[in-house]
Amino acid sequence: MRIINQVTVAARALRDGKLVAFPTETVYGLGADATNSTAVARIYSTKGRPQTHPLIIHISSADSVSHWARNVPDYAIHLAKEFWPGPMTLILPRTDLAKDFVTGGQNNVGLRVPAQQTAQELMKNFEELGGMGIAAPSANRFGAVSPTSAEAVSEDLAKYLDSEDLVLDDGPCLVGIESTIIDCTGSAPKVLRPGALTVELIERALNIKIDKSSKSHRIKAPGLLETHYSPRAKILLDGIAVGGDGFLALARFPTPPGAIRLASPKTVDQYASELYAAFRNADKQGLTKVFVIAPEGNGLAEAIRDRLKKASSR
Ligand code: TXA
Ligand code: MG
Repeated sequence: MRIINQVTVAARALRDGKLVAFPTETVYGLGADATNSTAVARIYSTKGRPQTHPLIIHISSADSVSHWARNVPDYAIHLAKEFWPGPMTLILPRTDLAKDFVTGGQNNVGLRVPAQQTAQELMKNFEELGGMGIAAPSANRFGAVSPTSAEAVSEDLAKYLDSEDLVLDDGPCLVGIESTIIDCTGSAPKVLRPGALTVELIERALNIKIDKSSKSHRIKAPGLLETHYSPRAKILLDGIAVGGDGFLALARFPTPPGAIRLASPKTVDQYASELYAAFRNADKQGLTKVFVIAPEGNGLAEAIRDRLKKASSR
């Protein structure tokens, strides 16, 4: 594995069936040609991820949706126009191009148009070489914390990648938590995973109320409901840190005496962008416990609490 910053080299590697980890505004993805079964199989083995967990296919613009999805409902077209490129993944009925090896055998496909500039250039270059889409989960081992920098990808995956695989480096991710996943296979949208695109924004764009209860899900999305996004350190959302424990909270909360502060985000946006680096920092220091004060309110804070809850329920 090599860390590089030339997009054209990365696009050729994808065409040649190599794995390329790349930045998006949410987290780094571990990419492969979404039509190449051998390359996609290597995503699963590299991550240690079960075959039944579908992958998101990344495309450069909504113009490519029709290659991968059919029967796209009007509200999904509206969402795509409003929020792509951006931190949003739409689950849609698949076409024949989306094979079982990338959808985990589901009849749906997850599509995303990331906004991050290097990701955009990578997808455009890849499409110029004849590529149809880049399948990419977050570039971490299964169940672990998503990487928000090229170094984090390398720390997690270097020993599982081949010498010709690449990590395309473009610095830290701006948003820091994964995309909002919206099930668009029924008459109304359902949010399967809260993310940087908030439920409030979706409701305003479509002028509807979103049913937030997970019981109403049509789709079983493996990985969305279980424990996930966990560092090795135990994440505790109640109680008070004492000497030697990790501590994570907005800057306005003082560090308890003797606790090790992992981040001091001033805003909720900053909280999201620093969260996973803080988790990694805890593991690097070998901390066993991290006490976290979750941000309050709706919007992005809700998505952060979702990840904290999953991280703490391991
Ligand atoms: O921000 C993100 O979404 C990042 C960047 C790289 O795009 N990707 C990401 O992928 O977080 P991943 O695989 O780590 O998480 C995607 C989740 C998984 O839990 C997967 O099961 C679910 O989305 N998913 C993907 N395609 C799906 C489908 N067709 N139906 C249901 N769930 C799907
Ligand atoms: Mg993931």
